[in-house]
Amino acid sequence: MKIYTEKDYGALSERAAGIIADFVKKNPKCVLGLATGSSPVGMYDLLGKMREEGKISFENTTTFNLDEYLGLAPENQQSYRFFMKKNFFDKINIDIKNTFFPSDFAPNYEDYDRKIEEGGGIDLQVLGIGRNGHIGFNEPGSDFLSKTREVKLAETTIKDNARFFDKIEDVPKTAATMGISTIMKAKKIILLANGKNKKEIIKKAFFGPVTLEVPASVLQRHKDVIVILDKEAASGL
Ligand code: GLP
Repeated sequence: MKIYTEKDYGALSERAAGIIADFVKKNPKCVLGLATGSSPVGMYDLLGKMREEGKISFENTTTFNLDEYLGLAPENQQSYRFFMKKNFFDKINIDIKNTFFPSDFAPNYEDYDRKIEEGGGIDLQVLGIGRNGHIGFNEPGSDFLSKTREVKLAETTIKDNARFFDKIEDVPKTAATMGISTIMKAKKIILLANGKNKKEIIKKAFFGPVTLEVPASVLQRHKDVIVILDKEAASGL
């Protein structure tokens, strides 16, 4: 595991966008695993600018998103499909037919894992981390062998994500997520975390024991993980 500590969110986003851009330039037909949340927004924005300047092309790239709420229409502004369109897909030249979300496969979630495998597997997976250590929506207690499936959101996740909704009651209670084994099969993983509210979980996840109670701790067992932090998220290390 390689850990970068950047001076601020802008530098974190630049580091992440740089790694992804180099990767896509070298492997234009690559399969990317993508994350939502506030952590990767700056990175998506920079990649969009690189596209605008003609420095990169996503024409032959395929993407699989990590997770999606269940029960929200795709045009709902809180859906992850909407988030990805607004923050990334609309800014790049990807063929929208090559962008996939686990919720589209409900209830046959095993088809999502199969689709990923048929595409050659995920070459590079982007992750954020929840304050409770979740990756995707794999909440504490998730089996390390889990595959794509429907999950119930933890109370802490509902509270954390309520900031994006008008009221907490509007936050969906269930979601579809790649499983932990789905994520661990990615050939390369980049995890982004910023802000002081991530400081404790970063320490636990990457310097504590590997445990089901901290799902992200499983990444200690992956052979190619890059963690990119800002100073605040790294301040507990
Ligand atoms: C959300 C998403 C995750 C995301 C995480 C962190 O609930 N399901 O995929 O990585 O929580 O979000 P943020 O980057 O906003 O802190």
